[in-house]
Amino acid sequence: MIPVTPISADRPSELAQDISERLTTAIREHLLSAFAPDNTKSLRAFSAPEVADLLGVSGQFLRKAHAEGTLPEPADIRAGRRYYTAQDLLNARRVLETTSRKKGRYMPGRRDGDRLQVWQLMNFKGGSSKSTTTIHLAHYFALRGYRVLAIDLDPQGSLTSMCGISPEIEFEGLTVYDAIRYDDPMPFSEVIKDTYFPGLSLAPSRLMLSEFETESAVHSAPDQPFFTRIRAALEQIEGDYDIVLMDSPPQLGFLTISGMAAATSLIVPLTPSMLDVSSTAQFMELVGAYMGVIEDAGATLHYDNFRFLITRDEPTDVPSQQLTSFMRALFQDRVMSATALKSTAISDATMLKQSIYEVVRSDMTRATYDRAKQSMDAVGHEIETMIQRAWGRS
Ligand SMILES: Nc1ncnc2c1ncn2[C@@H]1O[C@H](COP(=O)(O)OP(=O)(O)OP(=O)(O)O)[C@@H](O)[C@H]1O
Ligand SMILES: [Mg+2]
Repeated sequence: MIPVTPISADRPSELAQDISERLTTAIREHLLSAFAPDNTKSLRAFSAPEVADLLGVSGQFLRKAHAEGTLPEPADIRAGRRYYTAQDLLNARRVLETTSRKKGRYMPGRRDGDRLQVWQLMNFKGGSSKSTTTIHLAHYFALRGYRVLAIDLDPQGSLTSMCGISPEIEFEGLTVYDAIRYDDPMPFSEVIKDTYFPGLSLAPSRLMLSEFETESAVHSAPDQPFFTRIRAALEQIEGDYDIVLMDSPPQLGFLTISGMAAATSLIVPLTPSMLDVSSTAQFMELVGAYMGVIEDAGATLHYDNFRFLITRDEPTDVPSQQLTSFMRALFQDRVMSATALKSTAISDATMLKQSIYEVVRSDMTRATYDRAKQSMDAVGHEIETMIQRAWGRS
């Protein structure tokens, strides 16, 4: 138990420090009890119908593949039902791909000559669902056999914690900062960590990353302008992944702009409220201005896709639907067709630092779970189609 003593201090600086220390301790204790004993997250097992669905095959096909010995039995069989780890699923993909007549059916990632897909989610409006969307896309793609790298460009480290690394606990780890700093940067591969989620790696963040903002403001070496730093880091590991997803901080600073210079597609998540839509006009004005500045300084920007994604969509809320229609009328297919529904299934999952893909269906109200998952699947699928199109397939 944490002793609850009144918090007061003579000076505001001490008060802030006290609040920070008290929170840090409390959060650490909370996390230790939530993720005890080794303080690591693990991923649930997937049922046979879920696995069949993810593989795009029938339950019968799956049973037959086990009976014929094409696929090894999973270790976890309860009451005659098979449960698969995400690693079992990935292994099944690899096996089935070798026997499949259609190339890429089970392993749909890059082929020779396909360009690495670098997608950045950005909006300077806080709470527009950037991190939530990023983790859902990361899990969506990892479960479908893509090699995914998630990059946390936000010093708040929300994406990092959702990937099972707690910036509140692990103060020592390397972060993106170490790979993009100006002074003696480290190889990007040393910063990237595997996560508990097979197929998903993470370039983590914590408060230290904000040093990049400070250093970039005073840094003026013409041979390594700030906007080349993330691109240069990505070039080192370019062959190791199919898809890179970058979460951005809620500001248009050096980190976000350096991400923009490395991205091949941009997604602007947008909540359909009047305040958010209005601030998007200013956001886009600034984005345009900064893009111009870095292009003049030698950056080449090219995006396969530059789209808005409506997040926390509420189909029964008339004003928000009107705003969504307004955005669609103005920007047509620049607004993605799929939307991320506002759902207690998503907010409850994120409270536990989980995506909807990590939640067990029977632990939630089924209809709520199904609606949320369908909506996230639709967002993932639409982006997957854009990615396949960028690779010349559809
Ligand atoms: N589809 C959704 N349904 C319900 N709640 C959601 C949904 N998407 C996001 N949220 C909630 O909204 C809040 C903000 O989401 P999130 O952290 O993803 O936004 P963000 O844009 O990354 O914020 P920041 O600008 O601070 O980085 C979170 O508490 C999250 O649980
Ligand atoms: Mg965020």
